[in-house]
Amino acid sequence: MKVISTEKSQVFATRLARALKTTVVDVTYSRFPDGEHYLRTGDLDDETIIVGSVIDNDALVQLLLLIDACDSSENRLVIPYLAYARQDKRFHPGEPISIRAVAQIFSRGVSDITTVNIHDKDVLRYFSVPTRDISVARDLGEYINTLDLDNPLILSPDDGALAFARQVASVGGWDVDNLEKTRLSGVEVKMAPKQLCAKGRSVFIVDDIISTGGTIATAAGMLYGQGADNVYAACVHGVLTGGAYGRLMATGIRDVICSDTIERACSKLSAADGIAHALSTP
Ligand code: R5P
Repeated sequence: MKVISTEKSQVFATRLARALKTTVVDVTYSRFPDGEHYLRTGDLDDETIIVGSVIDNDALVQLLLLIDACDSSENRLVIPYLAYARQDKRFHPGEPISIRAVAQIFSRGVSDITTVNIHDKDVLRYFSVPTRDISVARDLGEYINTLDLDNPLILSPDDGALAFARQVASVGGWDVDNLEKTRLSGVEVKMAPKQLCAKGRSVFIVDDIISTGGTIATAAGMLYGQGADNVYAACVHGVLTGGAYGRLMATGIRDVICSDTIERACSKLSAADGIAHALSTP
């Protein structure tokens, strides 16, 4: 059994291979003059663990090509970050259920699929092969523990991330609460006021995804206004669209922390060991 990955998941794939005590298959990636992707794999084993975060449309196509190149229905697919998961229903007539379309194409040519903190586990029903979703909540909690903060407050920016925030907080027995969020547009978020004991405290806002950073930047401004000492932003998937990182740091956020499901300079915890454990467990 070997690991193989798309171009933008190489570091993650190497960590996963190490955790599984195996190696990564060499892949040549290139493009045709018209922009089409091309790839060619090195020698494969009977069973291959195919790894690729779908962070953009190029990564999506590369992952599809890799599944086809590996060409065995025994292969297992790991998608640490799966874009399109937030369009999980028809919010307006005429819209696609994007995650359903994506799930259908990734359900061919592999025996099972592993994801990490997918936006809503309900979408796993759209895959037609067995799936499992692992969580890095404990890993994030353990990372927060290393900072040795006095009585930190773990906050979720909305109800959707509250279960995740509770899992993070359970690592240190820390306080947990949530803010209320109203999305005004793709980049504008309003945080409704809520009674929080943020004064004089270190606050961790934790979410599954930081995309534009609008959600957390708004919350951080509000929390500093309430006298928080330090505000940190943490997420599983650091999408960090456009100038998100800079926008967050400009609000006075102490640090931005994400996992390596998307490989970023601020990836400070890894989902690789959790995935290796899940793949090794029947
Ligand atoms: C939405 O439901 C997600 O859980 C995140 O809260 C959202 O994607 C964050 O987006 P942004 O960083 O653009 O505010």
